[in-house]
Amino acid sequence: MTRVLSCIQPTGDVHLGNYLGALRNWVAGQHEKEVFHGIVDLHALTITEEPGVLGENTLELAAMLFAVGLDPEVATVFVQSHVPEHPQLGWVMECTLSFGELSRMTQFKDKTAKREGNFISAGLFSYPALQAADIVLYDTNEVPVGDDQRQHVEITRDAAIRFNHRFGDTLVVPEAVTPAAGARVMDLQDPTSKMSKSLGGAGCIMMLDEPTAIMKKFKRAVTDSESEVRYDVAAKPGVSGLLDILAAATGTTPHAAAEGYTQYGPLKVDTGEAVVAMLEPIQARYHELIGDPAELTRLLQIGSGRARTVASTTLSRVYDAIGLVPA
Ligand code: TYM
Repeated sequence: MTRVLSCIQPTGDVHLGNYLGALRNWVAGQHEKEVFHGIVDLHALTITEEPGVLGENTLELAAMLFAVGLDPEVATVFVQSHVPEHPQLGWVMECTLSFGELSRMTQFKDKTAKREGNFISAGLFSYPALQAADIVLYDTNEVPVGDDQRQHVEITRDAAIRFNHRFGDTLVVPEAVTPAAGARVMDLQDPTSKMSKSLGGAGCIMMLDEPTAIMKKFKRAVTDSESEVRYDVAAKPGVSGLLDILAAATGTTPHAAAEGYTQYGPLKVDTGEAVVAMLEPIQARYHELIGDPAELTRLLQIGSGRARTVASTTLSRVYDAIGLVPA
């Protein structure tokens, strides 16, 4: 059976980009494939400097993952720090990747630029090695992610291939899978940048935003001074960003979504309404689930137990392949 793994950081509220680019695909695959989904708190530690925050964010994120439709009966939802094999294999991956390869990672360059003047942890640099470990630990075939994570899956492939070359065929080489619409949801105020937690604000639709706030953000979305509705990312990034979201929310293509519109106003309203309708049931489930933190903790513990069973087998196989003395 095809193995799927993908993870998300507990670094603040989940937004529409996370949902359309990744989470929705996680749910879609869960009944046909064997799926593992991690809340990667150790990755979030690369930019966390206060106590308490990560634990709280982890439970909120767990509620969101179940609210979007991950079924704990079939999907293994786990917390990265509950599975010590992640940082253990992370070290092996650090030794399998080069300084040069890690230096070329776009996310590292972006994050360090945004943290100018702030503490830049060594973990931020070696981050892709831990991510490679997350992936190969589960003998993963497919990694459903947004477009921005493609480079991290590429470097994971390079690490797996190099490890296999050095120590014999041990690791499964994974592939990134991105959705046809929604792989790169753009910020509504700055449509040449992807929607992100760090930009936040009026250009970012949060999964828990009230319907009135969502409509307001769409009505104020930045477009251009023309009035033609056409999907053309280079010439019309704002309108194309809206069409991408409308297409993803209504299950069509951005070109097809553009048909019938002659003005920006109705496009903004329809996109807002489609998003409100898509998020309403998720928000209702979230509010039910977050009221029972003990149940969320129990579900995460079950998931982490299942994840450990697989992860520990892979780690032993890796240590054996290297030829470490058995413990
Ligand atoms: P993170 O937590 O930033 O984002 C989680 C998922 O959301 C997707 N995403 C987007 N998709 C479309 N449009 C956007 N504007 C947008 N913003 C975010 C991301 O592509 C991602 O799929 N490094 C990862 C976490 C990670 C991971 C892994 C992922 C750690 N280990 C192993 C896959 C496999 C990250 O920071 O995602």
